[in-house]
Amino acid sequence: MPDSVSRQGLEDSRLVRAIRESGRVGVLTGAGISAESGIPTFRGAEGLWKKFRPEELANFDAFMANPELVWAWYRFRRDIVRKAEPNPGHRALAAWETRVGEFTLITQNVDGLHARAGSKHLVELHGNLERDRCLDCGRTCTGARAEEGDPIPVCSCGGRMRPDVVWFGEYLPEDALIQADRAAAGCDLFLAVGTSAVVHPAASLPRLAKRRGAMLIEINPEPTPVSAYADFTLYGPAGQLLPELLRILDA
Ligand code: OAD
Repeated sequence: MPDSVSRQGLEDSRLVRAIRESGRVGVLTGAGISAESGIPTFRGAEGLWKKFRPEELANFDAFMANPELVWAWYRFRRDIVRKAEPNPGHRALAAWETRVGEFTLITQNVDGLHARAGSKHLVELHGNLERDRCLDCGRTCTGARAEEGDPIPVCSCGGRMRPDVVWFGEYLPEDALIQADRAAAGCDLFLAVGTSAVVHPAASLPRLAKRRGAMLIEINPEPTPVSAYADFTLYGPAGQLLPELLRILDA
């Protein structure tokens, strides 16, 4: 294990007890959990694409102004995700779910890697990169095709498709938000993994869990706003620390 991983935190008896005794677990993941699968985070050094920040492309006005550009970015990201594989962090969370009574995995990621790792009780707050949604009829599907010479996929109704993800300034899917709030408010252990915790409402979930009495463990190589009130921040990569927590659970 590299020096950056805090062994001291992992051996703390309160942390060990919470992991072993918790029957209701909530987890919030962000782009950091997929970093070790080779998917760039949003706010990391590789988050720029052709000099654009994600906020400049992931919004409805940018799409209406230049759908070709926004679709080019999403095709680029789909290519990366299709070549990527779930890493030990994704797999540890899928395994954890099989060992406790209630386990809700809330993710801000649109890469689908949690589902591919085998997670079942999964709440995708920001949608899914593989899905398209029709601007006219609202139908969602995967694999919509573009017509010859047009880079924008079309729906069977003839409408133009957009990626079925949540963009800046848009509401989150209501049922997903309700499930996420319920899981955060009702768990006894909450993990915030690989998120900079600056985009709301997802970023409010760790605080909600803590306020309702859950033990809050953060996993991130860097401090974030959550670090100020987490019970433990384990500084290091999720692909190493989550398997460590699973070993504690199984010991
Ligand atoms: P960010 O890119 O903002 O943050 C990624 C976090 O992961 C940072 O805090 C990193 O320190 C951390 N990190 C990096 N490598 C890691 C590793 N190996 N293990 C654990 N953590 C690691 O991504 P998000 O917090 O997911 O929203 O961003 C939230 C939302 O903002 C995204 O869902 C997206 C974005 O713009 C929309 O598109 C609506």
